[in-house]
Amino acid sequence: MTSSTSPASYRTLSASDMAEVDQVIHARLASKVALVNQISHYIVSAGGKRVRPMLLLLIARALGNDSSQRHELAAVVEFIHTATLLHDDVVDESNLRRGRQTANAMFGNAASVLVGDFLYSRAFQMMVSTNRLRVMDVLAEATNVIAEGEVLQLMNMHDPDISVDDYLRVIEYKTAKLFEASARLGALVTDAPAEVEAACAAYGRALGTAFQLIDDLLDYEGSTAELGKNIGDDLREGKPTLPLLVAMERGTPEQRELIRNAIIHGEVERMAQIVEIVKATGALEATRQAAQEQADLAAAALAVLPASPYKQALLELGVDSIQRSS
Ligand code: IPE
Ligand code: IPE
Ligand code: MG
Ligand code: MG
Repeated sequence: MTSSTSPASYRTLSASDMAEVDQVIHARLASKVALVNQISHYIVSAGGKRVRPMLLLLIARALGNDSSQRHELAAVVEFIHTATLLHDDVVDESNLRRGRQTANAMFGNAASVLVGDFLYSRAFQMMVSTNRLRVMDVLAEATNVIAEGEVLQLMNMHDPDISVDDYLRVIEYKTAKLFEASARLGALVTDAPAEVEAACAAYGRALGTAFQLIDDLLDYEGSTAELGKNIGDDLREGKPTLPLLVAMERGTPEQRELIRNAIIHGEVERMAQIVEIVKATGALEATRQAAQEQADLAAAALAVLPASPYKQALLELGVDSIQRSS
């Protein structure tokens, strides 16, 4: 996630926990159906940054939790995330993910959607095994809201007239909600007081918003090689993300018209011109600034946690989510 050579300390600090989560993930992927195993291992073995389970674990640790339920729950949020990716790549017609061909490009749309369903339902089996109604409530709500976010986004596709608030609602639903749930679960497994749980949830929500803002920025200024997914996909699909909304607001009438048409028709062949406009209008800087504000909110929410290396790691995770190039 970071471009520095030494691993960030939040990774070092959570390494043994994450190794346990990896074991849970591989054990729980097992299916009697060969194609389920093949596709789920295909996407999981490509890695991914595993930010959501890390968030859950660091919060649990910062609150002094050492029960093994946290590993199961960390695997649950990664499964839900992975299921959303399998579905998202079908919807977005993407062909590169985690530096590999997407599952839909490799195995077809039908198989990807169905294995996404397998992962969702396996995650639900696992959460039921924790025997905690609140856990099920948080995750059922999160998965439902993610689905609403993806549908809202579909409705906004090719529409250059959506507002910044419409855009922010989509990213809150499709991305921030699972970050929020992950952070909340970290507090929930420790039986933290309600106000601590709420502050952790606020941290996750703001971090997730920052994370998606940067994802949308990287679609214009990132590198396909570093990201492991194709830049320009958002434009090809006519997604009115913040860099484009700001550029339309600040640009000349000609620039505005060019972006409007590119959104309406998904003109990825205009990518070079659009990158020039988003840079010239300061739209990329404005997007980064919006992400930074969310990261600052996230950091402020952590004030409720006692000082510890885990709290420090959570702060670093916020910084890295802004500085990331992958
Ligand atoms: C990708 O999430 C989808 C977004 C919310 C931007 P990640 O960037 O966490 O994906 P992986 O798991 O590291 O591949
Ligand atoms: C993230 O949206 C997908 C979900 C959170 C469900 P994007 O479509 O922007 O993510 P990438 O760029 O494909 O990873
Ligand atoms: Mg996508
Ligand atoms: Mg994206």
